[in-house]
Amino acid sequence: MTDMADATHATTRVPLTRKPGKAAPADAAPSPGAGKTACIRTFGCQMNVHDSDRMRRMILDAGYAEVQAYEEADIVVLNTCYVRENAVDRVRGHLGELSRLKKEGRVKKVALTGCVGAAEEASGLERQFGIDLVLGTHNTYELAEFVGLPGMEETRTPDLPGTGDGDSAFVTIMTGCNYQCSYCIVPTVRGRMACRPMEDIVAEVEGLVAGGTKYITLLGQTVDAWRYDGKRFCDLLERVSEAAPRVWFTTSHPSNMEDRTLRAMGERGTIVGRLHLPVQSGSDRMLKIMHRGYKAERYRRKIEVFREAVPDGALSTDIIVGHPGETDGDHDRTLELVEDCAFDSAYIFKFSPRGGTEAAEMEGRVPDDVVQKRFLQILRAVEKNGFEANQRKVGSEEEIYIRRGLSDSGQAIGETWGGHAVRLDREVSNGAEPGDYVRASISSAGPHALYAGARG
Ligand code: SAH
Ligand code: SF4
Ligand code: F3S
Repeated sequence: MTDMADATHATTRVPLTRKPGKAAPADAAPSPGAGKTACIRTFGCQMNVHDSDRMRRMILDAGYAEVQAYEEADIVVLNTCYVRENAVDRVRGHLGELSRLKKEGRVKKVALTGCVGAAEEASGLERQFGIDLVLGTHNTYELAEFVGLPGMEETRTPDLPGTGDGDSAFVTIMTGCNYQCSYCIVPTVRGRMACRPMEDIVAEVEGLVAGGTKYITLLGQTVDAWRYDGKRFCDLLERVSEAAPRVWFTTSHPSNMEDRTLRAMGERGTIVGRLHLPVQSGSDRMLKIMHRGYKAERYRRKIEVFREAVPDGALSTDIIVGHPGETDGDHDRTLELVEDCAFDSAYIFKFSPRGGTEAAEMEGRVPDDVVQKRFLQILRAVEKNGFEANQRKVGSEEEIYIRRGLSDSGQAIGETWGGHAVRLDREVSNGAEPGDYVRASISSAGPHALYAGARG
């Protein structure tokens, strides 16, 4: 799943599972966090955003007020990402700042959670920065006791209540990953795949929709690998698409993506037509070294099915440049694939060695200047495709789901049914709130977004 910038979300309140025999906070002694403040900072992918939402609920349950600035916080929770070294560098920067604030007596306690917390490196950071609590990815529920609540219990295939920001919610359908991609630390920090039962997921979706949620995103590192009791992901997606007014899912793995899922995206009016399907490389040689389990041709065929099934759907991918052993020839294959698939957008990552992964020990390191050159070539090719595809949408009439209402900059942000991002000006958005739909025609387009109304 592709990581995102720091994110903060309010929560839909769904009770967390409690340890048997322990009292609920409502019956507990006066709120342990009353009069105190807490700040949660989230790094990494949607799994972390979702975990942060659950931790936020514990903190609010404990009576803390949420603040956005470290300086104003009694406790700070850093929910971290370990996928690339630059993610960890950012965390180190924040930990440095927090230990200074602690010495000055402003911040009282710091908790490090998430994927860095699950990595061996965490104990070194704990000592270096005097962190008060380190939690991995499977024991976030322990934060409850840290903030003074009675203990809570979660399991590996947990009762993970959906969380979101009111109009939309994430629903985790599986955790962990059973692949062993050469470069990837996720299976180490998130564990093996565990899928939730279909009835639980559907019940949760129905509960959220009954409570006013209008947009459900099914989450998992390899979301399309979900299976339970003989049911496959396409069965689940079809079922959820009947229970919710708007549905999306991320992140898919090409080896698990079935044609039936792609067709359902086109046929069912409630599924957003955006496919995020990380390819990583266009070279069969590299795909094999990476243990991706498919060849470039098979990926191309999947994309053909997608384009036919969802003609106006947005297609995005992840690409790694500079994996050990990548030659100019391999890179050319990736550029060819980028042309053939005409991605609307892509997350392009420079290879980052992660201790303990196979690729970190491989020979054939690609020099930085070569990596940079390849990176820019792919970026330009993707942006050119994205720009051209967006230009073709100018003039089309769209039903746009509002994701964020009008901001200070005078734009609202929305999404078409094909999954394209749209920026709407004040006049076109006309006071629409998150969860509303606005009918508008696309007036102009850039490489990353469509515009409805004046571009601002
Ligand atoms: N489960 C998702 C990806 C999770 S990580 C999937 O399989 O598609 C998100 C992206 O980070 C990956 O798709 C990959 O492109 C990138 N990535 C993972 N490990 C990396 C590393 N060591 N160096 C550079 N990029 C990496
Ligand atoms: Fe990492 Fe590969 Fe699993 Fe994705 S499928 S999380 S890239 S090991
Ligand atoms: Fe996600 Fe980063 Fe962890 S991408 S699973 S937060 S290592």
